[in-house]
Amino acid sequence: MTRSATAPPSYAGPLILALESSCDETAVAIADGLDHILASEISSQVELHRPYGGVVPELASRNHNLNLRPLIDLALEKAGVSIEVIDVFAATAGPGLASSLLIGNTTAKALALAAGGKPFYSINHMEGHLLSPFMGDPEGIRPCAALVVSGGHTLLIHLRGLGDYQLLGTTRDDAAGEAFDKVAKMLGLPYPGGPEIDRQARAGDPAAFDFPRSMIDSGDLGFSFSGLKTAMFYQLPKLDQPLSPTCLADLCASFQEAVVDVLVAKALTAIRQTGETLLTLSGGVSCNHRLREKMSAACEKNGIELKIAAPAWCTDNAAMIAYVAAAKALHGVEPSSLDEDVNPNLRLAD
Ligand code: KG4
Ligand code: ZN
Repeated sequence: MTRSATAPPSYAGPLILALESSCDETAVAIADGLDHILASEISSQVELHRPYGGVVPELASRNHNLNLRPLIDLALEKAGVSIEVIDVFAATAGPGLASSLLIGNTTAKALALAAGGKPFYSINHMEGHLLSPFMGDPEGIRPCAALVVSGGHTLLIHLRGLGDYQLLGTTRDDAAGEAFDKVAKMLGLPYPGGPEIDRQARAGDPAAFDFPRSMIDSGDLGFSFSGLKTAMFYQLPKLDQPLSPTCLADLCASFQEAVVDVLVAKALTAIRQTGETLLTLSGGVSCNHRLREKMSAACEKNGIELKIAAPAWCTDNAAMIAYVAAAKALHGVEPSSLDEDVNPNLRLAD
């Protein structure tokens, strides 16, 4: 660990060190208050898990253990600060894989304790995704309807202020990212499938196959993506194998279009229901180029302000965890107890 007591030349504070290890990315960030991310390091385990077609929990936690300490050193070095000047420690507490969460969470608690009992915040990973569109925004966190689409979650939330979240709708079965990953696997595309489908879809015709838009007219804000996965499962045997590059691209574009249409329609209903004028979009799936394109067009047409998380903060990272910790510290939220356990099923809102 870096030992010299170096502080940034001038800083707003508090200086936050945040760790993220909920799934297969080990991530460390150092932030100066809400507005300055001084370092954001990510060590991806994608190559390690690819041969298995998904995340292997034991492999993930063992590698978090190996990667975390050097990554903390690297982040401190890049930020130009030493561990002694960190004011606040933070780590993801859930949702995620218990054995992975424990590595980052326990390390951050130990660092806070070793620093003489400095404040420690347990952060909900989904709150990181939820607030990520506001990172770098001088106006700060504002009331909005929020669509958070990740590998494990599809959430529509009415955000009224920091810590004041109402769940408007979620999925009955698969999350949007999970549907992308499972369909990609069916199509023989490498893990993780979401970015791969996005890439293939660029050359495809979104109207080539008529996949279902499940629950698009249900009138509520619930989602269901398992029927779409099943539709792909029954479509594939009807096609010439191996799939031609054109057919593969058309399948990807048509599948993606079905997911995107539902996400856009539900987000528009949510914003109407909440009476807000701002819609935010975040989580890994919000990297998707077609979702960004169609959501932007729909919002422009309906006079809705849209804030999408910057691509670097869409997928898992520790900067979004540092941002939530900074917001909590600056709003006077009590730090977490070091006795607080991680929670693989941690909920963001009810
Ligand atoms: O937020 P995230 O990094 O991790 C979770 O908290 O789950 O989201 C990962 C998910 C994966 O399912 C991945 O396939 C999906 O986001 N994803 C995408 C794209 N980039 C990542 N899905 C569709 N299009 C993309 N470009
Ligand atoms: Zn995530």
